Amino acid sequence: MDLNLDALWMPFTANRDFKQAPRLVSRAEGMHYWTPDGRQILDGTAGLWCVNAGHARPRIVAAIARQAAEMDFAPPFQMGHPLAFELAHRLQRYAPAGLNRVFFTNSGSESVETALKIALSYHRVRGESHRTRLVGRERGYHGVNFGGTAVGGIGGNRKAFGSSLSGIDHLRHTHDLTRNAFTRGQPAHGAELADDLERLVALHDATTIAAVIVEPMAGSTGALMPPKGYLERLREICTRHGILLIFDEVITGFGRLGAPFAAQHYGVTPDILTTAKGLTNGCVPMGAVFVQQGIHDAFMQGPPTAIELPHGYTYSGHPLACAAALATLDTFDDEGLLTRGAQLQSVLEDALHSLRGLPHVIDIRNTGLVGAIEFEPRPGAPGRRAFEVFQSCWDAGLLVRATGDNIAISPPLIVGASHIDQIAATLRAAILTLT
Ligand SMILES: Cc1ncc(COP(=O)(O)O)c(C=O)c1O
Repeated sequence: MDLNLDALWMPFTANRDFKQAPRLVSRAEGMHYWTPDGRQILDGTAGLWCVNAGHARPRIVAAIARQAAEMDFAPPFQMGHPLAFELAHRLQRYAPAGLNRVFFTNSGSESVETALKIALSYHRVRGESHRTRLVGRERGYHGVNFGGTAVGGIGGNRKAFGSSLSGIDHLRHTHDLTRNAFTRGQPAHGAELADDLERLVALHDATTIAAVIVEPMAGSTGALMPPKGYLERLREICTRHGILLIFDEVITGFGRLGAPFAAQHYGVTPDILTTAKGLTNGCVPMGAVFVQQGIHDAFMQGPPTAIELPHGYTYSGHPLACAAALATLDTFDDEGLLTRGAQLQSVLEDALHSLRGLPHVIDIRNTGLVGAIEFEPRPGAPGRRAFEVFQSCWDAGLLVRATGDNIAISPPLIVGASHIDQIAATLRAAILTLT
C-alpha cells in the first residue's frame, strides 16, 4: 500500500516508532479486523473499549446511512430533533436508579468536562458556591481535556501540560499487589482507602468540596478492580458531607462488567455518571452524562426564558450519533449483550489465570469481560515488556492493549469461548518470548 504517513500526528502514539513499522487496519467485521494486506486480526480490545456489539453490525450501519440521507445535522441550541429526545428517554431504561436525565456530548473527555461543570454549577444554583474543589484519584483516567487531565491521576498524562487547574486533590489509588495479587473479581483488601476522602475533608472542610470523580473500575491504568466495600464507603462519605459522587463509566458503561453499568454491577449509585464509547458501538462519536433528577431539577428555576446551563457542543445529540445509539441499544437488547459478560466471566477468568506462573507475570485480574496481566517492569525500561507482548500478539493476529506494564483484554461482548482460547494461547506464546 502506497501511503504517506508523514502528515498525520498520531494521538497517544510513539509516532516515529510507529511509522517505521506501521500497524494498520482497514476493514472490520464481527470479532475481527483485517490489515490492508488481508491479514486477519482477532479484536481482543473491542477497538478501544468501545465496539461492544462487534464490528460493522448491519443494523447499526443501516441506521447511520438512513439518518445521513434523512437529516444530516440539526442545531442543538434552542432547537431539537426527535431522535435526541427518543434516545434520552430510551436510555432511562438502562440507567441506574434515579439517573434519568441525560446530557449529550461527543466523547468521554467531553462527558467528564460536562459532569464536572454540572457539579460545580449545581452547588452554585443551590447557594453553595463555596463548593469548588474537585477530587480525583491517583491512576485515574478521565480523558484529555483540562478538567479531566486535572482530576486524572496518571503522571505521564499530566506532567507535560503545566500547572493544571487549581483546587484539585487526589485520593490514593487502590492497587495493592502485596495483598491482592491474582484476585479473581474484587480484591479483598483496600476498602479503607476510601477514608482518604475524610482526610481531604479534614484538610479543606467538606463545604469546599464539590465532587469526587472515580472510575468504578479503573480501565486505562490497567483494569484495577475496586476493593470489596470501597465504593460503598466512598458513597457513604460523599453523602454524609454533601459531596457529589461521579462515576466515570466511559469504559464500564454498556455491558463491560456484565451489567449495563458498573454502578449496577457493584450496587453503588453515583449522583452523576459519564459514558461514551459503547453507547454507539464506537461507530459515531458520542457521549452521554446521566444525572440524578434532583440535580437536573435544581437548575430548572428562575425565569423560564433563561438558559439554565450555559454549556453544550455543536454536535451534542448529533442525528447520526443518535441513530447509531438507538440501533446499538436494539442490538444489545436482541442479543442480551449487556449481561453477557456475567455469563462469560468465568471463561475469561479461567483462561487468563491459566497464565499465572509464566515468567515476569506479577498479577492477573478480571471482572466481566475485562482482564489484565501485569508484568514486573524491566529494570530501566518500564512498560517495555507489555509493549513487546502487544507487538508479538499483533504479529500473531491478536489485538490487545498495552498500558504501562499491563496488558488489558476487553473483547467485544459477542466474543465466544474459542476466541477466548485463542486470546489465552496467543498471550502465552507472546509472554514466553519475553526477556
Ligand atoms: C474512564 C474514561 N474516561 C474518559 C475517557 C476519555 O474518552 P475519550 O477518549 O472518548 O475522550 C476514557 C477513554 O478511554 C476513559 O476510559
